[in-house]
Amino acid sequence: MEGIRIEATGRALPKKIVTNEDMSRLVDTTDEWIRTRTGIGQRHHCEEETCTSLAIEAAKKAMEKAGIDPEDVEAVVVATATSDLAFPSTACMVQKALGLPQEVMAFDISAGCTGFLYGLGVARGLLLAGKKQHVLLIGSEYLSRITDFTDRSTCVLFGDGAGAAVISRTKKPFAYRAWSDGEAGPLYCLGVGSDKAKLHMEGNQVFRFAVKAIAQGIEEILKDSGFTMDDIDYVVCHQANKRIIDHVGKKYAGTKAVFYTNVEYYANTSAASIPIALDEMSEKGMLEPGMKLILVGFGAGFTWSSALIMI
Ligand code: UT7
Repeated sequence: MEGIRIEATGRALPKKIVTNEDMSRLVDTTDEWIRTRTGIGQRHHCEEETCTSLAIEAAKKAMEKAGIDPEDVEAVVVATATSDLAFPSTACMVQKALGLPQEVMAFDISAGCTGFLYGLGVARGLLLAGKKQHVLLIGSEYLSRITDFTDRSTCVLFGDGAGAAVISRTKKPFAYRAWSDGEAGPLYCLGVGSDKAKLHMEGNQVFRFAVKAIAQGIEEILKDSGFTMDDIDYVVCHQANKRIIDHVGKKYAGTKAVFYTNVEYYANTSAASIPIALDEMSEKGMLEPGMKLILVGFGAGFTWSSALIMI
């Protein structure tokens, strides 16, 4: 399949770090419970920052690293469930802050924690149909804004942050799948106009869905691409819970593929978690040309999606 690659990444995290001990002063919980059930040790919460400012900071870093001409950007796409304004989109504000030319499409997409993966599909479509070489794709979330800090079963799980990627066309191997089933009940947040716009999650149902979604995402992408897990260097899943990732990872024990996790430091940053992970991996020197990665996103909708990309 004619595909896309990730040219460069950037990330932005709010300065304020909230530890599990901090959370235990808000609700009846412990560091031990949070770590053993989720692998989370801390999360970042916005104070001065906003969904827009995080998106801009991450996008600037990715654009600087990519070193591309802003005239070559076809579109700015922000995946978010927590934009500062209902409209205009966060993407329009990123466009202006980065001084991108007017001949660019700028819009947000809403696909919960699958947003970055859906964004890859959208970016590929835009690049195949468009005239330019790159799409700036960002996942940015201010989840503490919609967190119910009286609900211990959800408030410990989420964090704020943004990750950005410059996406480019490639002839290298690429595979992509996306799904949705409209199962809204277990994971939702009321929208604009509601004074009760807080995240609601039935954790057990979402856990069961997540395990199935990751497994399907991996299997279908392997089938489509003709690779096996011994061809794959890293699997980067949406970072919701280390137990979910370990559970799926066990099935592929003994293969070359390594499941990357960093949920300990950021908690679940929804659409931002995969680009944050990719940026961290790149910074650590873990990503080398020729490596193959499987990315898997899953979340509200339910939506889920997977991609095989080559570095
Ligand atoms: O990004 C979108 C995708 N989201 C996800 O993938 C999240 C998927 N779900 C999960 O990660 C897990 O289901 C949770 C981490 C949310 C919950 O873990 P669990 O092992 O499924 O726990 P549970 O909901 O079955 O709760 C077990 C117990 C309950 O107490 P009882 O009824 O057994 O007495 C809860 O009330 O743990 C209690 N509990 C807590 N205890 C201490 C729930 N939250 C907490 C807490 N601290 N923060």
